[in-house]
Amino acid sequence: MKCLTCLLAAILLISCGPQEEGSHTTDPGQLSLETVRHRWYTQKQVDLGQAIFNEHCLVCHGDSGKGAVQDWQTPLSNGKYPPPPLNGNAHTWHHDLPVLRRVITEGGLRLGGTMPAMGGALTETEIDNILAYITSLWPDDVYQRWASRFGYEKN
Ligand code: HEC
Repeated sequence: MKCLTCLLAAILLISCGPQEEGSHTTDPGQLSLETVRHRWYTQKQVDLGQAIFNEHCLVCHGDSGKGAVQDWQTPLSNGKYPPPPLNGNAHTWHHDLPVLRRVITEGGLRLGGTMPAMGGALTETEIDNILAYITSLWPDDVYQRWASRFGYEKN
């Protein structure tokens, strides 16, 4: 796999199966009461997700998802890409929730990347809580672009 974009495109392609439709009960529109204003998640999800993120993801993606290195787009000496920031500075916001769930569940290893599949260690609910936390790190302008692109706007 020659570039991060190719890798992510591959992840994206694999993730775009029609079986994704409606397979999760926590799609933004169906979330219960008290979501954070204009956001898809509840504060409780964010708090739970932060703890899980710190335990399983921080080691690679850095404190508050800041990433591990300054330049996440340049391959390391082994030719692999470093873990990108997840805090809105990179392009995580180009993916919708089903794709992000799939990336976390299946990782990037089998596509030539280095992220391990986390699906064995985490439940779907835990992964959704992590996604609540990750998307809570995004500044409003990034979040709004993501939300309008994928129809996740809320009043
Ligand atoms: C061993 C290091 C490592 C761990 C642990 C890890 N990741 Fe990753 N992650 C990566 C790398 C490296 C990439 C880039 C793709 C690749 O090489 O597989 C990545 C890619 C991603 C992406 C895609 C980012 C984008 O901009 O498209 C997401 C989302 C992600 N990781 C979330 C997580 C979450 C959530 C956890 C914890 C449950 C986690 N990762 C644990 C190394 C890691």
